[in-house]
Amino acid sequence: MCGIVGYIGPKQAAPLLLEALEKLEYRGYDSAGLAILGGNGLSVCKAKGRLSVLFDWTEGGATMPGTAGIGHTRWATHGEPSDVNSHPHLSHSGRVAVVHNGIVENYAELREFLTEHGYEFQSDTDTEIVAQLVDFYYHGDPVKAVRDAESLLSGSYALGIAFAAHPDLLIAVRKDSPLILGLGEGENFIASDIPALLKHTREIVRLDERELAVLTRAGVSVYDRFGDPVEKAPEHIAWDVSAAEKGGYAHFMLKEIMEQPTAIRNTISPRIKDGEIDLGLVHITEEVIRAIDKINIVACGSASYVGMTSQYMLSKMLHVPVTVELASEFRYSDPVVDEKTLTIVISQSGETLDTLFALREAKRRGAHIISVVNVVGSAIANESEDVLYTWAGPEIAVATTKAYSTQLAVMYLIALHFARLRGTLSDAALSEAVAALEALPALVEEMLGKREQMQYLASLFFNLRDIFFIGRNIDYALCLEGSLKLKEISYIHSEAYAAGELKHGTISLIEPGTLVIALCTHAPLREKMVSNIREVKARGAVVIAFTDENDASVPAVADHVIALPSCAPLVLPSMPLIPLQLFAYYVALLKGCDIDKPRNLAKSVTVE
Ligand code: F6R
Repeated sequence: MCGIVGYIGPKQAAPLLLEALEKLEYRGYDSAGLAILGGNGLSVCKAKGRLSVLFDWTEGGATMPGTAGIGHTRWATHGEPSDVNSHPHLSHSGRVAVVHNGIVENYAELREFLTEHGYEFQSDTDTEIVAQLVDFYYHGDPVKAVRDAESLLSGSYALGIAFAAHPDLLIAVRKDSPLILGLGEGENFIASDIPALLKHTREIVRLDERELAVLTRAGVSVYDRFGDPVEKAPEHIAWDVSAAEKGGYAHFMLKEIMEQPTAIRNTISPRIKDGEIDLGLVHITEEVIRAIDKINIVACGSASYVGMTSQYMLSKMLHVPVTVELASEFRYSDPVVDEKTLTIVISQSGETLDTLFALREAKRRGAHIISVVNVVGSAIANESEDVLYTWAGPEIAVATTKAYSTQLAVMYLIALHFARLRGTLSDAALSEAVAALEALPALVEEMLGKREQMQYLASLFFNLRDIFFIGRNIDYALCLEGSLKLKEISYIHSEAYAAGELKHGTISLIEPGTLVIALCTHAPLREKMVSNIREVKARGAVVIAFTDENDASVPAVADHVIALPSCAPLVLPSMPLIPLQLFAYYVALLKGCDIDKPRNLAKSVTVE
């Protein structure tokens, strides 16, 4: 997500901060900015676009003299990428400047509170609220002001804060978003990540949850949430820059797989308030949602598999017909959609051309459009009636992982919200499902614990030429994604089959040693899957099966078992995907493939 840097020392801050921000470019961003503490208080410069724009505007930082300051690269969440929405944000009095990474969930309430107290806002961001709130509480003591303001924030935040009246200090504080400090001789640093610091220091301190740091030229003091000082032993970083960019992981794909609990939490938790789902839809009214008689989902690739997985869930929960169409087919299919149709468009990039044209086709025919998009301000987001952003942060690896799982999380939210409005789920069932959703990040964390097992299985099977995935119902949709993940990065041919179809042709491909990955998570059809496993085993297949940790029937027939935690049916589809991503990753690693940039593929497909 966003990148934060801060510097206080003897050198000119602006050029140093610009250079440090360059080292965070890998995180993805759409705008950048600086706030420098100079002779005349705070000066701010910020610009939409690449860092080079900010570099040109400030003549490499020369137009912003001063030896302390904060800088930021923004990945938009609230409000489009624009100069005014870029960070740093200044409070209306100009006394406080803030850079932020994360999402302030209660920003609407805080904005109302501050507006009542005469504060005026320039931007659409949640971050500006933080600057104003700190300003509101500032009566001469900067630390107290930050603490008072911070105690009112809910959500995730890493903050770098500068005060016009205190040119000799910077403040850093964090909760659920990363922030580190760099320790130098007569100079100290704030950063979101290690690469920004490596040129200046290899001694770093990681701030823990809700710890607050006061940085001066002479040193750094850290305090816990109660205001008590904390002794932090510096950590020496021996990594090189390229390893550091990936947070110590060998590939962005693995980093992004491991980020999924946080990404899902960021996507879900701002949308659940007091046990109720609030999607924040602006244009599609409750009446429209109640009147819909058909849902069609359009997307490409993995995003279409999110659609297929959700199809089962949505039609069951909402009692409406749900279809999933590949965007490239939909746009030429003379589709039957009208003003009683809801079209859900799913796209990480928000720029996939076929998906964009499918959206336009549905819109032209009168359908209501909700899109599920990761990139704020992208074409699909802009052309939709309402957008539900997946707050997964930038996805760098070509093969999608965290975008997929956050898209799925948004589909759960849609299903429950619509079920409440349409009265198709009882209050008790709804509360249970919302609680299951809130527990999802922790379950996904648990699934990441399968890493070693998947690495081991990959070592057994990485040299195969063909792999089959079988499953029924939701498991079939998950097989499609597991198979795509494997083939796109490892170049192993694989097929996903609805297990009931095996007998209609595919089973002729099974021979001694063929690997079959069988997903048996959908309990009502588990016994059918046991029969399918027996069929392929009888022809010599080796079977890796995914099933519930309490199930004994599948382990009795499979060669290898991935045991999944028992969890609510709603969130079950999120479980097997994590080990399947890890399996694909380790197979590709063992084969020596270019994991983050597989051959012939692009991250964003903006051609037909
Ligand atoms: C597979 C993958 C692709 C994308 C597809 C749609 O790992 O990433 O199949 O899902 O190209 O892209 P978006 O979601 O950007 O529309």
